[in-house]
Amino acid sequence: MFDSGIGGLTVAAALRQLLPAEDIFYIGDTARVPYGGKSAATIERYSMEISGLLLAEEAKLIVVACNTASALAVPRLQETLRVPVLGVILPGARAAVKATRSRRVGVIGTRATIYSRAYERAIQDLDPEIQVLSQECPLLVPLIEEGWLDDPVSDQVIGRYLDQLVKDQIDTLVLGCTHYPLLRQSIKRFVGPQITLVDSADNCALAVKDLLRKQKLAAPKTNLGRLRVAVTDASTGFLHVAEKALGLQVGDVQLRTVQSGTPN
Ligand code: DGL
Repeated sequence: MFDSGIGGLTVAAALRQLLPAEDIFYIGDTARVPYGGKSAATIERYSMEISGLLLAEEAKLIVVACNTASALAVPRLQETLRVPVLGVILPGARAAVKATRSRRVGVIGTRATIYSRAYERAIQDLDPEIQVLSQECPLLVPLIEEGWLDDPVSDQVIGRYLDQLVKDQIDTLVLGCTHYPLLRQSIKRFVGPQITLVDSADNCALAVKDLLRKQKLAAPKTNLGRLRVAVTDASTGFLHVAEKALGLQVGDVQLRTVQSGTPN
């Protein structure tokens, strides 16, 4: 699995829960986080390079635990790589379609994710009657990487970004960036009980389970799966967030150097 930083660990936590027998190797591209303000070509290149590191670890399946990379790089990864690749956009869209009653769905994400309109397309492919209202929230990822998960500054930024969506009377809000579930409490406080928050994590774990079963790739049930975490640049906050906010058992965080070029 990979993400630009710690956000994808929210998906790793769901995978650990549903598939405890699977070994997970997670890379956070901390040397280049955030991805969300970068161009499609750069996001595609980064995703390809990180996938090369995962293939070097003999990954049997790659989960793109990043909405930005899922929105912009998954088709290219699926065409190029020799293992199956799963992104998080469709799982998030499915969760939204299931949750909404009024068919007014809000989506928040990075600038690149929102501008790609990937959620809008995925949701409306599932139900064309749903109205999708989107808002980019570029300041949230740096706040989360900084570990400001319960902080008045984060509350204020959330209020500023979400005010219009609440006024527009959405009933469901997609946390369309794998970092955002780490701010779930603060977001919930602002939007109130009428709005259901959904994210990709659980549905993505289900999609992984399904794919492993179909392709006969699942680890034996007796296997005791491990989570190993690597980053591309030393990051002090990483372990703290993983263990404290997500309850994940992470041993030593390893360091990996990105190689440029297309993996084979
Ligand atoms: N967690 C990522 C996402 O889901 C990336 C955020 C970023 O690097 O900007 O979009």
